[in-house]
Amino acid sequence: MPILQNAMMAVMKKAIALAPDSFIPGGKPDPLIRHKHGLIGAPISRIDGPLKVSGRATFAAEVPMEGLTYAALKYSSIARGRIVEIDTAAAENAPGVVLVMTYKNAPRLKPMPLFLTKPKAAGGDDVPIMQDDQIHWNGQPVALVLAETQEQADHAQSLIRVIYEAGGDGVTSLEVAKAKGSEPGVFQGETLKLEIEDAEAMLAAAPHKIDVRYTTPRHNHNPIELHAATLAWQGDRLRIHDAVQGVAHVAWTIAQVFGIDEEKVHVTSPYVGGAFGSKNLSQHQVLAAAAAQLAQRPVRIMVSREGVFRIIGGRTITEQRVALGAQADGTLVALIHTGTVAMTPHNNMPEPFIQPAKSAYASRSFLLDVETVKMNMMANTFMRAPGEAVGTFGLESGIDELAHAMGMDPIDLRLKNEPEKDPTTGLPFSQRGIVEAWKAGRERFGWRARRGPGARRDGDWFVGIGCAAGTYPYYRMPGGAARITLSKDGHATIGIAAHEMGMGTSTAQTQIAAERLGLPMDALTFNYADTKLPGVVLAGGSQQTAAIGAAVIAAHHKLVGELLKLAGNDSPLAGLTPDEVGGLDGGLCALDDESRCESYASILSRAKREEVSVEAKAPLPLEFLHWSMHSHSALFCEVRVNAVTGEIRVSRFLGSFDCGRIINSKTAASQFRGGIIMGLGLALMEETQFDERTGRIMNPSLAEYHVPVHLDVPEIDIIWSDEADPHTPMGARGVGEIGITGVGAAVANAVFNATGKRVRDLPITLDKVI
Ligand code: MOS
Repeated sequence: MPILQNAMMAVMKKAIALAPDSFIPGGKPDPLIRHKHGLIGAPISRIDGPLKVSGRATFAAEVPMEGLTYAALKYSSIARGRIVEIDTAAAENAPGVVLVMTYKNAPRLKPMPLFLTKPKAAGGDDVPIMQDDQIHWNGQPVALVLAETQEQADHAQSLIRVIYEAGGDGVTSLEVAKAKGSEPGVFQGETLKLEIEDAEAMLAAAPHKIDVRYTTPRHNHNPIELHAATLAWQGDRLRIHDAVQGVAHVAWTIAQVFGIDEEKVHVTSPYVGGAFGSKNLSQHQVLAAAAAQLAQRPVRIMVSREGVFRIIGGRTITEQRVALGAQADGTLVALIHTGTVAMTPHNNMPEPFIQPAKSAYASRSFLLDVETVKMNMMANTFMRAPGEAVGTFGLESGIDELAHAMGMDPIDLRLKNEPEKDPTTGLPFSQRGIVEAWKAGRERFGWRARRGPGARRDGDWFVGIGCAAGTYPYYRMPGGAARITLSKDGHATIGIAAHEMGMGTSTAQTQIAAERLGLPMDALTFNYADTKLPGVVLAGGSQQTAAIGAAVIAAHHKLVGELLKLAGNDSPLAGLTPDEVGGLDGGLCALDDESRCESYASILSRAKREEVSVEAKAPLPLEFLHWSMHSHSALFCEVRVNAVTGEIRVSRFLGSFDCGRIINSKTAASQFRGGIIMGLGLALMEETQFDERTGRIMNPSLAEYHVPVHLDVPEIDIIWSDEADPHTPMGARGVGEIGITGVGAAVANAVFNATGKRVRDLPITLDKVI
């Protein structure tokens, strides 16, 4: 981001921080927070559940189209260099082949605008897409085959022969990349560097300290549903059935690539089988659309599991230094969290692992810094709690190490350093219940049973318990807008271009809208994930519930205004303003006098209207520049480590959460559990094997890239505070990413407690504890 823009942001931020609460969205609590009729928090089963278990939910790779062709990709086998020769004759002559596309015949395409560089940018990399002979990473698509069946396409792809000339400025070794020099990371327009006082000097002078290095490996995305699209050109219009977390973003970005109006691209994505940050715009959708244009046929592309490892990306490698200095009573005086991550010259996603350290603990001094180095590898991307998931491994292991060095209980050390306001911005917290989460969790988990490292043994098994804090910021991105149509028979339809990726959006949003309108769930239809609907809503950053919530509040406010106008002077509601009424029992009632009501049916029939429809935009998201807003967790883990084999088994886990009001206790608990299970994978299994000689990923399959299976996961106990955040829509904060944060450290700290062995390098495999 240009320096001038950064400076303006700084001025804006200060003004917003100092503004009176009433000027800020969320300054007046959402009336729904105190409006309790049973739907908010209810454990309602997913409304899309029956469709999914019966196979009637049509995913992107299942949408039928007349005359469909199937795509297969060929991936480069060198990391940097050029294509000298590409022989496609055998593939072209293979049975069923419709088209072989390479850089020689691909249509002219512009690079994808990179994610977060523009409001609707969704590109994972800005490498030219099949435009020249240049190779930038090992796995880059070099050819696409279209055939009448998937098998024919896959076979023909295997017949393509490519001769490469490796070389140029390619870097596939982290040490070589570091030797070439680093640059400060930039994330969401902000440089990942922060200094408060002289932390190195305060560390040196502190009576108690630790100064250690942690490393985390590359991780690849593995959602159950593979990345896929079924698409067709209709003249100069492009219709895409996609699996994405931002339909408006994908439509705009692909329009830039093809140089057409974004209105000409229609994207829908009603069902997504998990995304976790990986389902934005990647080369596969662009290549499929280009091939469809050349062949004048509809195209289905479903990236293979190996292909996802080649072109989708994931979490990058991190090397972290955590140095903590404390006084004799545990008060932190220095908090240093610095280190290096690998990126590519063609993406803008550093793994911002210092984010948790910005608000987790009070300290007199801070030194936070993420440095980036460049490698020729697939562009890394967002992966559930990018930054926080691996950053909390370093920070929360470090806190545990300091507590051990001082002979202090690690929970007491954390409570000792609980900040009163945000320690690095000075902003007040919107609501922070981490202390309560620790206390409730400590009691329920039986923390008192903890003994010194290596002190508990059950036969061949060492048993230990550990804990860690998790944290993830509250975000709300600009662009939220919604339409509400209310009909005389008391049915409401909400339309917003948001996403259901398996987390329960459509259910939770139906609950909230039904509660706000005062209608039963079955009187509501929630339409989403279609670029024909209003709103630019990314299902990412755990912000979707807030983004939809704020848009629906705005639309509802407008709807109530319209209804009051239609109700007129003969209504019991006469004279009331939209702020003074709410939805109740199929109509509107005065908020402070439930005897002053009129039903929607009565208002609309008196006004001789069949329906009323409104559309409105959410206000700009200024609240997180005015308050420090974060979800929190206190995590407790018990592990059993085999004294003979080193095998590590997680035997108990408790997550105690502080995420504001919980909208649906069933789907939220599943989100928390899912995050924790993904965290168990991060702690114990997940590791992309990257060959530093060739830049090739060596384990591109679920046989060799390990994720937790049922037997790896114990029963996971979940509790939460359910204390409403007064400054967010519905009082809720995000629950999507918080679950994974802190889990790596909770497991590592439990392994230390069990064995006395401190593992500072993820994943914690048995060879590291033996
Ligand atoms: Mo998430 S990594 O913001 O989908």
